Amino acid sequence: MEGYGPSTYGDRIAEVYDEWYGPSKDPADAVDFLTSLARGGRALELGIGTGRIALPLAAHGVEVHGIDASRRMVDKLRAKPGGERIPVTIGDFADVGVDGPFSLVYVAFTTFFALSSQEDQVRCMRRVAAVLGSDGRFVLEAFVPDLSRYTHGQSTTTIETGLDSVLLDAVRHDPVAQTVAGHHVMLTHGATALYPVRLRYCWPAELDLMAQLAGLSLESRFAWYDRSPFDARATRHVSVYARPGAEG
Ligand SMILES: C[S@@+](CC[C@H](N)C(=O)[O-])C[C@H]1O[C@@H](n2cnc3c(N)ncnc32)[C@H](O)[C@@H]1O
Repeated sequence: MEGYGPSTYGDRIAEVYDEWYGPSKDPADAVDFLTSLARGGRALELGIGTGRIALPLAAHGVEVHGIDASRRMVDKLRAKPGGERIPVTIGDFADVGVDGPFSLVYVAFTTFFALSSQEDQVRCMRRVAAVLGSDGRFVLEAFVPDLSRYTHGQSTTTIETGLDSVLLDAVRHDPVAQTVAGHHVMLTHGATALYPVRLRYCWPAELDLMAQLAGLSLESRFAWYDRSPFDARATRHVSVYARPGAEG
């Protein structure tokens, strides 16, 4: 998808992001889980967006920092109560261009897959390891890939229908590069709005290998932030990485 860069997704979706995901993506479990792993130290969110998780986490007393490529998403965060107090670096989180150490680095809602090449994902893991304190934890929440969603290299899914609107996902799938690229498409009377999205997905085992390359190892994996067990039926995972021998 030519012209698509680190800020494209956020810049295009910022106006509707909270309306679409705010009500359905309750951050309460994530906030409890992340608060316990921060252990009173500083936390860094990769792709902080409009602060869906960062704001309630900060309200729990955690010092939260963020990185995001999209100024429009960060403007939404800034407009919320407490949003102006969260330090945010504007940039590509593949580079994790902030100074550590952090007790906790986290990336939620499949945002790690927004890095669209394996090279960028490995670089990000290495940079995360570099800014983690010696007993720090890296938490990555993402979907488990499901190739049955795609036929003939594509998928068109109806996400929501209303009396006067329909929301579709229309994407192309490349199983070799492990990429999915396309649009959320909102159709209303007389108007179409396109929200471009591009992902490179990984299976949990590839993420574990990337973590190993960065000197981290898998400490625990759950199906959700409520610590429900991860098994072959899980559609998402919350994975916790640490340095071998980290205390905590
Ligand atoms: C799906 S949203 C998640 C926002 C927030 N973490 C949440 O859970 O609601 C993904 C966020 O990551 C940001 N993003 C995507 N790719 C990025 C990149 N390469 N560098 C920095 N931010 C990026 C987007 O701008 C957007 O704010």
